[in-house]
Amino acid sequence: MQIDIITVLPEMFEGFLSESIVGRARKQGLVEINIHNLRDYTKDKHNRVDDYPFGGGSGMIMQIQPIADCIKSLQDKLMEDKGESYDAIIYTSPDGKQFNQPMANELSQLKNIIILCGHYKGIDHRIREKLITHEVSIGDYVLSGGELPAAVMTDAIVRVIPGAIGDSQAALDDCFQDNLLAPPIYTRPAHYEGFGDVPEILLCGDPKKIREWELQMAMERTRRLRPDLLSE
Ligand code: ADE
Repeated sequence: MQIDIITVLPEMFEGFLSESIVGRARKQGLVEINIHNLRDYTKDKHNRVDDYPFGGGSGMIMQIQPIADCIKSLQDKLMEDKGESYDAIIYTSPDGKQFNQPMANELSQLKNIIILCGHYKGIDHRIREKLITHEVSIGDYVLSGGELPAAVMTDAIVRVIPGAIGDSQAALDDCFQDNLLAPPIYTRPAHYEGFGDVPEILLCGDPKKIREWELQMAMERTRRLRPDLLSE
């Protein structure tokens, strides 16, 4: 899979791309992630990528030219290098569709995607109408830019690519994969002064009984903490 991220703050991705599961998946060649600085595509002599809104009002708007040229250049390069086109051009925005596990799973099946990080007050609406295929929000709150949402989405997408997590079952066991929260988890020691004991059943050695208990706990936690998931 190839993920191309377009941003005005490329430095924000540095640590994220080389660490943990995303870093490992890149090294293993499971995913190629390229960061593109939008400013490299502006024709403005002061290197600006934003301008004042028509009709007045506060905040700056990201202009069409650098975004359109950047996307065109990525499309041309992908066609030239691999003979392929992008399957999705995603724009991060608080008014987009709420990101969730099924969306991460779906996007992870695609071959080539672009994530355009919104910034300032947002992008010229004509880009949304003509080029963007998916508008995605990571929650009902406003962040200073789309870089953290792009990182959140990339992480969630990459971890479900087969092979990205050592134990192939682990990503499927993530909470939300079956609309259930995860059961409580424990590690050694089985007893810790002041914190009590690990539930007895986890020490019984019978995998079937343990899976049943975990499912029961997952159902109980979901009913109590996220009953909305059970009605979906
Ligand atoms: N940009 C600013 N806030 C955002 C959010 N909640 N989701 C996606 N992009 C955003």
